[in-house]
Amino acid sequence: MSSQLVYLNGEYIPLNEAKISVLDRGFIFGDGVYEVIPSYGSKALRFEHHMQRLQNSLDAVRIKNPLSNSQWQIIIDKLIADTDSQDQYIYLHITRGVASRDHQFPNEVEPTVFVMSSVLHTVRPELLKSGVSAITLDDIRWQYCNIKAIALLPNILLRQQAVDKGAIEAILIRNGNITEGAASNVFIVKNGIIKTPPKDNKLLPGITRDLIVEIAKKHNMPIEEISINEHEFLDADEIWLTSSTKEILPVTKINQQTVGKGQPGIVWRDMYQKYQEYKETLRK
Ligand code: PDD
Repeated sequence: MSSQLVYLNGEYIPLNEAKISVLDRGFIFGDGVYEVIPSYGSKALRFEHHMQRLQNSLDAVRIKNPLSNSQWQIIIDKLIADTDSQDQYIYLHITRGVASRDHQFPNEVEPTVFVMSSVLHTVRPELLKSGVSAITLDDIRWQYCNIKAIALLPNILLRQQAVDKGAIEAILIRNGNITEGAASNVFIVKNGIIKTPPKDNKLLPGITRDLIVEIAKKHNMPIEEISINEHEFLDADEIWLTSSTKEILPVTKINQQTVGKGQPGIVWRDMYQKYQEYKETLRK
């Protein structure tokens, strides 16, 4: 693990030798953005989409993208080749850089760039069979949840509250409507119709979410990007959580209550299968 190769500021070095300054604004202020990109059979899933979201996050916090997409691709390919696993996830992290501590942006500072690839463990089959439990919590976060910011303290506190209650995820409610999970997007199914909240500043535009919407449309599965209120959510036939590392997880318990028939639903099964088929096209 410690000899694993990572990329830090232009160099490929072992993980245990990767060091940054304590004055890095990522460390001091949480002043940076990140991406998590899954890769299957050495190919990054939706690389262009992740790069576009990274650019959007960088633009929103006014950090210049230090690399071109082809430079990012070269780094990612090298780290994937160095990691001994078919399925991996790339963690990519950019901060505003190192400067004396002052809230205002420093002048002429080079961003810090860190990239690593780790083994992506597929979700345990028992969990896909039984489904997982989640709880609902108040969305205590800020107004720019569309930015993939490294400052994740609210998300961490929310996730931990869920874990403390024996659940896997906190599903967040703002002004009576579902936004997303602490580190995932949310879908429901009611009477055969798949629903997910529309993309806006209240949630991260998940790459997995968008892929699922695309797959549903391609296969004429009814889908709506529409606000979901708490009542409708708790009354859903199916609830799913989606993310790059968890794919599509069926939720069968919410706030200790059974969701639908208490088992992963038929629409989930169908979508999960189609998502796996999409992944397999990357391995060819
Ligand atoms: N998180 N919403 C939030 C708040 C997230 O942190 C994530 C993913 C998602 C799903 O996005 P995507 O489908 O692009 O992974 C939604 C990553 C996996 C993480 O922080 O580790």
